[in-house]
Amino acid sequence: MKAQAILETAQALVAGDKGLLAMDESTPTCDRRFAALGIPQTDEARRAYRELIVTTPNLGRCISGAILYDQTIHQETEAGIPFVKVLIDAGIIPGIKVDAGAKDLAGHPGEKVTEGLDGLRERLAQYAQMGARFAKWRAVIAVGNGIPSRGCIEANAQALARYAALCQEAGLVPVVEPEVLMDGDHTLARCAQITEEVLRAVFGQLAAQGVMLEAMILKPNMVVPGLACGTQPTADEVADATVKCLLRAVPAAVPGIAFLSGGQPSELASARLNAMNVRFKTRVPWALAFSFARAIQQPAMEIWRGEASNVPAAQQALFHRADCNRAARRGEYTAKMENA
Ligand code: G3H
Repeated sequence: MKAQAILETAQALVAGDKGLLAMDESTPTCDRRFAALGIPQTDEARRAYRELIVTTPNLGRCISGAILYDQTIHQETEAGIPFVKVLIDAGIIPGIKVDAGAKDLAGHPGEKVTEGLDGLRERLAQYAQMGARFAKWRAVIAVGNGIPSRGCIEANAQALARYAALCQEAGLVPVVEPEVLMDGDHTLARCAQITEEVLRAVFGQLAAQGVMLEAMILKPNMVVPGLACGTQPTADEVADATVKCLLRAVPAAVPGIAFLSGGQPSELASARLNAMNVRFKTRVPWALAFSFARAIQQPAMEIWRGEASNVPAAQQALFHRADCNRAARRGEYTAKMENA
């Protein structure tokens, strides 16, 4: 019964031309983004901002699932409607971030391991009761001199797989997110090599833990050079490198790949996703979708700036980005959409 339900949820998350909206920033991350725009870093400002997102008109046309943060899944609109209900009524599947963040990995300077497995079975049961149907766990892999180490890759891959198995046991679809970071001056080729190594390790561990690949979503980075790399590729080059890497490392049983944006400018993230679908949509076994946070939210947050009077314009910007990424899933995104 649970197996059938999670198979259907995984399919629904990547069906058609929709994608996921990550709105699961932890309080410190959300506050950092608010501070950069002069928005007060209060519980009420965070709640009001999340209300702006979940009440965006027609969001369900573009977004299949929204990933919430623990504080957010307990919150409601000013009118007293739980966010989970608002999402379900909009046709959006509620999801929840369940990791406890990336912490320093002992003995591995500059590297992190994501924590949160203790008590996870009980937390997942509670989230499922509250209406969540999928979950997210993010591992971060830094690139630099001599890193990532095998120890870091394996520790994170094993944690991702143990999380994924617990999710499926609880009837939740695991979104498995191993993120190779964009910080640094590494080349596209180095990102490709590391991403492939990480994905191979992750799928090895998922197999070892008996995770049903048909009932999970992979949320990887696109294969891109470091932000400080002197040579920046075209969207087609990113599409080619990313799909080549995924074809080598991701089993065909996985229904969908929903990319993170990782700090890419919003329009570039849409253009790169679009290039992947233009070039490969009919030739790859999985849906090529999105699960963006910044690349959907950033323009809206910049318009809102904590002012109630800016909510309609911010919601319009949020919908626009979601709609651009929906077009990118079809391979129909063009720069003209930005001026429309
Ligand atoms: O864990 C990170 C988010 O789910 C994706 O965020 O698109 O801003 O990288 P991003």
